[in-house]
Amino acid sequence: MVSSRKKTAILISGRGSNMAALIEAAKASDYPAEIALVLSNKPEAGGLAIAAANGIATAVIEHKAFGKDRAAFDAAMQAELDRHNIELVCLAGFMRLLSAGFCEHWFGRMINIHPAILPAFKGLDTHARALETGVKLHGCTTHFVTPGMDEGQIIGQAAVPVRDDDTEASLAARVLAEEHKLYPEALRLLASGALRISGNRVLRA
Ligand code: GRF
Repeated sequence: MVSSRKKTAILISGRGSNMAALIEAAKASDYPAEIALVLSNKPEAGGLAIAAANGIATAVIEHKAFGKDRAAFDAAMQAELDRHNIELVCLAGFMRLLSAGFCEHWFGRMINIHPAILPAFKGLDTHARALETGVKLHGCTTHFVTPGMDEGQIIGQAAVPVRDDDTEASLAARVLAEEHKLYPEALRLLASGALRISGNRVLRA
């Protein structure tokens, strides 16, 4: 039922290919989430134009305007999310750390995608580090967001092989193709109430 679809915001900082995958998935009439807002901390984020072209409300809240005051930036974002009656938040290439208060407010209702098989390779440059380390499997993880960076409870993971001739770019592309399947599935599960957090684990409700 369309009326029960969870109103979801996607937070981006860049090109927004994961955002686009979520928007595409949410076009299905039986998808349990509606993308109601795309919010960027950067006015030049390419994803904003894609969202607008899909008729989705967009907003820009520049973190630079708040200096070092992370809490004030997060409060401005919260006000925008409230204005749109947002129920769920998806981080999709959103390159800002969020304050503990913001994470606690959204606990269990905010998810992220990370381009590595967590807990391996938290943080940035995951593909380069996977190549340097010599792992034979790499991939991506969807997880709940907690104050610790890339530390939240894991919802889903997908693995890809690391090939002998891989470059950072070829490996990133192979992982990204999996991200675009994994993230819509995670939001589908969350929005349909199928997930339950139990300590460090995410179980089916
Ligand atoms: C993705 O690799 C995502 O896993 C990471 O940042 C990248 C964002 O890419 N968090 P895009 O903006 O979704 O294309």
